[in-house]
Amino acid sequence: MEQVPLERLEVEIATSCSFACSHCYITRARRRDARSVFTDHAFSRAAVEWAGAKGVLGLTVTGGEPTIQPSFRTMVDSCDECGVPLELYTNGAVGAGFWELPKVSRVVNAVEVSVYGFSAEEYGRLCGRPSAFRRMVDFVNRACTLGVSIVIKTSPAFFPKRESFDCLKAWARRLEVPILTFDLDVVPESYDPRVGPPTVVENRTADNSDLNHSLCEAGKTSLFISSTGEVRPCSLVASGIFVNASGDLDSAWSRIRQFVDRYHHLGRNPCRQGGCSGNSTTAVSQAGEQAVGDASGIAGERKE
Ligand SMILES: C[S@@+](CC[C@H](N)C(=O)[O-])C[C@H]1O[C@@H](n2cnc3c(N)ncnc32)[C@H](O)[C@@H]1O
Ligand code: SF4
Repeated sequence: MEQVPLERLEVEIATSCSFACSHCYITRARRRDARSVFTDHAFSRAAVEWAGAKGVLGLTVTGGEPTIQPSFRTMVDSCDECGVPLELYTNGAVGAGFWELPKVSRVVNAVEVSVYGFSAEEYGRLCGRPSAFRRMVDFVNRACTLGVSIVIKTSPAFFPKRESFDCLKAWARRLEVPILTFDLDVVPESYDPRVGPPTVVENRTADNSDLNHSLCEAGKTSLFISSTGEVRPCSLVASGIFVNASGDLDSAWSRIRQFVDRYHHLGRNPCRQGGCSGNSTTAVSQAGEQAVGDASGIAGERKE
């Protein structure tokens, strides 16, 4: 098989979270489950070392909410020692103080922050944590001041009021931060590898398969390890290969690549078979967008 470099390793260090987002693809049961192979320091260290040896461009740490996990500290230390850039998926509720934690501003290279509305009220409705709105804003403003690369991730479905989405866009434009949006096609409660693939609400068109063939790197140059040690092309693909703490990541990576290659060779999308809705993210154009509403007092100062 042709040798393709691993560019990105995504690790789900734990599935627990203090938010209760109804759209989350992690089931409520999994969000209550504290078990994780990444609490084993030897395992998480081995995964970071492996990623470093592969020369990844970045190791993405996700959850659940990764910033509240004790294993997050281990990841920061391991990435620091192995010289692996750490990328983070977070809800940002940890607030601005996060950036003062030891090594964090040096090791965390890029952040994709999920934004669940643009007011305390909207946050309360969507994730059950109204006060998290202000903390998320402070988290992002501080990151921008420090020059950390930030991307805002959201869904238009989170904004019942158009003005609110416009305020978010105005804030992002002021900070020069891009926005990615995603569709909510996965019915979360049915997304559980143990009970089979999720129901796809809306039938995705052939365009999404094409998109997946041409753009999605899952299983081609990127790989995902779940909190239970399952290796998959990405977090939204249900089927996986279990790798335990002493498992061989090289052989899991090669088996995943064979699996994905086989589907692509047949002109089929492995994600559909495995349960992914194909909901790729879409960049919201910042150019020429006229902001409506007032986002003043929200935007921070970007470091020169
Ligand atoms: C499960 S979250 C974990 C990280 C963090 N708690 C957060 O919310 O960003 C990982 C990523 O999945 C995204 N996400 C959550 N539910 C999704 C869904 N149903 N479909 C696609 N992406 C989803 C989040 O926006 C986030 O970027
Ligand atoms: S904050 Fe992230 S992990 Fe937590 S419930 Fe929401 S989407 Fe899921």
